[in-house]
Amino acid sequence: MSSKPFEQIHACVFDAYGTLFDVNSAVSRLKDTVGPQYGEISAAWRVRQLEYTWLRSLMKSHTDFWNLTSDALAVTLRTFDIDDAKLHAELMQAYLSLTAFKEVSSVLHQLKQAGMQTAILTNGSPSMINAAVANAGIESVIDRKLSVESVGVFKPDSRVYQLAVDELGISAENIAFLSSNAWDAAGAAHFGFNVAWVNRYAQPSEALPGVPSAMLGDLSELPALLGIC
Ligand code: LAC
Repeated sequence: MSSKPFEQIHACVFDAYGTLFDVNSAVSRLKDTVGPQYGEISAAWRVRQLEYTWLRSLMKSHTDFWNLTSDALAVTLRTFDIDDAKLHAELMQAYLSLTAFKEVSSVLHQLKQAGMQTAILTNGSPSMINAAVANAGIESVIDRKLSVESVGVFKPDSRVYQLAVDELGISAENIAFLSSNAWDAAGAAHFGFNVAWVNRYAQPSEALPGVPSAMLGDLSELPALLGIC
């Protein structure tokens, strides 16, 4: 057992959406078509998408993240009185090539050079995450891409976090988990990972079981946290 968090880390496990990839980049790219409310529409789409993951997990009625994201988009567009099947299709296509945050590639290279294992653990379906990783050009620095599709339930169900332990063969206390989603950071801390909450948008902390051990402004602060630079 490590006495302090992040002292004995063998693997860094990253959330995908919001942490490595900017979920707002899909709508931003199509903002001229979406119109002036594009920021609100993007935020509403993300909220409904997440709500549907939690609701479907509670309802024990799983569908993959691609279908769920499409459903959430359809309801969001209806909410804003937009009836445009072509735009729906274009936004879904854009979701396959979300922009990676600017520090992501260099930090992953630094981690690999230090001998760290790297993985993504995401609600995203395998085809979505393969596309995002390929588009960002980070295949060579991500060792494993783990999708909740292997367990058929969404975060923060503990079976999702256990998937990383089982697939990497590394115990939870030797894994650093990085998420910008505060509720995911809480879920992962509650499970037993060393969690650094990547608080990109300076949000208040959650009042949930599971408290992250560290808070970062972005991932460029990760190598120092791990003592590898
Ligand atoms: C994911 C969502 C939570 O990538 O952002 O799993």
